[in-house]
Amino acid sequence: MCGIVGYIGEKNAVDIILDGLHRLEYRGYDSAGISVLTDGELDSVRSVGKLAALESKLKTTPLSGPSGIGHTRWATHGVPSEANAHPHHDDPQAIAVVHNGIIENYLELGAKLREKGFEFRSETDTETIAHLIRLYFEGDLFTAVKRALQDVRGAYAIGVICSDDPGVLVAARSGSPLVVGLGKDESFIASDAAAILNYTREVLYLEDGQACEVRRDGYTVHDLQGVPQQLDIQTVDWDQSQAEKGGYPHFMLKEIHEQPEVIRNTIGGRISKDHSEVVWEDGLLDDSLLETCDRIMIVACGTAWHAGLVGKRLIESLAKVPVEIDIASEFRYRDLLIPPNTIVMAITQSGETADTLQALRAAKNRGATILSLVNAIGSTIARESDAVIYLRAGLEIGVASTKAYTAMLAALTLLAVDLGRRRKSLTAQEATALLTGLQQVPTKIQEILDNQGSILQCAADNRFRDANSALFLGRGYSLPTALEGALKLKEISYIHAEAYGAGEMKHGAIALVTDKLPVIFIAPRSATHEKIISNIQEVRARSGIILAIATQGDTGIAQHCDEVIYIPDCPEPLSPILAAIPLQLLAYYISVNRGCDVDQPRNLAKSVTVE
Ligand code: AGP
Repeated sequence: MCGIVGYIGEKNAVDIILDGLHRLEYRGYDSAGISVLTDGELDSVRSVGKLAALESKLKTTPLSGPSGIGHTRWATHGVPSEANAHPHHDDPQAIAVVHNGIIENYLELGAKLREKGFEFRSETDTETIAHLIRLYFEGDLFTAVKRALQDVRGAYAIGVICSDDPGVLVAARSGSPLVVGLGKDESFIASDAAAILNYTREVLYLEDGQACEVRRDGYTVHDLQGVPQQLDIQTVDWDQSQAEKGGYPHFMLKEIHEQPEVIRNTIGGRISKDHSEVVWEDGLLDDSLLETCDRIMIVACGTAWHAGLVGKRLIESLAKVPVEIDIASEFRYRDLLIPPNTIVMAITQSGETADTLQALRAAKNRGATILSLVNAIGSTIARESDAVIYLRAGLEIGVASTKAYTAMLAALTLLAVDLGRRRKSLTAQEATALLTGLQQVPTKIQEILDNQGSILQCAADNRFRDANSALFLGRGYSLPTALEGALKLKEISYIHAEAYGAGEMKHGAIALVTDKLPVIFIAPRSATHEKIISNIQEVRARSGIILAIATQGDTGIAQHCDEVIYIPDCPEPLSPILAAIPLQLLAYYISVNRGCDVDQPRNLAKSVTVE
């Protein structure tokens, strides 16, 4: 999941491309590179590591020119190295290509090209594209790119420039996201509109199988056979300040603190004045879709999958609709049995996660109706769904998802209550109690954010900070919370954290318990509270270091634990939202105390656009 930016116009492309790459660095930071055309010459500078390394190299080897392409990399084929950094070139170094995605038949194509005498300088799949374009180049770059891509199998978003056809920048996509930005006497390409919002808000979202010849004064969109394509220009109305840290040391901490506002946005205008009904935006959801669906199948990845697990429990208990959930990368290759009247629900922050997108397409091909919960407006999954509930969490830049997760939980609660009311499995009183509780969640989150003392203390405590592993345990609604807490700690502090059903622990994981192992119990007030107290005592008996997330007023639990972090009381179905906050903060502060790069953790990227 690399980041691509391109520019063609009158200004120096280098400044604009670097600015854009900074806004996309959350997509990958293994290496970076830039190529520009100056007086018909193609010049490139590439470097290993973060963008800053490329910028310091550009100080000693400056580049400038009216058109160029740039890239920040998340390595898939070939180790992070300068040779494997993009842009990749053809032999006479006249063509430069940046790519996000995976070319699945690159070995086969590479063999054919080597037979024709092409020499490869890198281990990447991308270099194949540069040589293929050279193979078909007869003076018109657009034509050569379209021809070359007919031989390619796999996922790609590419940007291409060529010194033999300097007046154009060619872009194309299949599977990976790409937008074209339109300015006055200048045009842009980018993996995500956020990269070019400083320069234009007029964008085209390229569709799969489309290529675009981008010029200073216009553009042409074709399919790979050269058939002209029409695309509507869309205006992006995001508030650019969201892409700034706003005085916080990290985007993750800023986004954690945005959650009261985010939940207000997610539920804003979607709950009736008397709190008894859910009211979606006009035309958002077709009534019959919800009233006639017999089954819901949820597909998602990572944190979104954890939200889906809460969604399953909410929908089954409040609406009595059977819910199946699967990780998208497995769902995609299952022998899918999708009975009629099934809603397939994709849950995703970025709307570009390849596993979830392909799962959605597999379900759609089998006649399922797709209802998606998406944060990123205009994203591919949103555009390919039959109905979309937008999360309204705003731009999420920290790789570790936080505000999008709690927004997913709030949206799933609305959906479950709505389904329950429509299917008469939830009374008006029960619905009102839950929707009133949901309206109070932002204030309760703020209360947790305003009282971080015990969280900071635990994060500075070497029993937690210096741990090599940790175990997160929960029951019912709190099992997905345990999974999410473990993921947050894993992905930013690199502590090997595992989550388990607290009841399941004694069937194996309890063997891990020693006086060095932190065991974090997610134990807010719940129907199975007594059971989880017994599980706490089972760990106590083996001297585990016990931290519990518990409900204010639950003084009893403290006697069994080494540390307790209290959260405000709320109806049990809402507890996953509140219990997530201290787990996000604990992971954040432990990672900061361990000196980790919280916003750009190793080996990860924000939007996983390859399978
Ligand atoms: C979560 O912190 C991770 N960034 C990752 O697990 C993420 O949730 C997953 O890749 C799904 O992303 P999506 O919501 O954008 O589809």
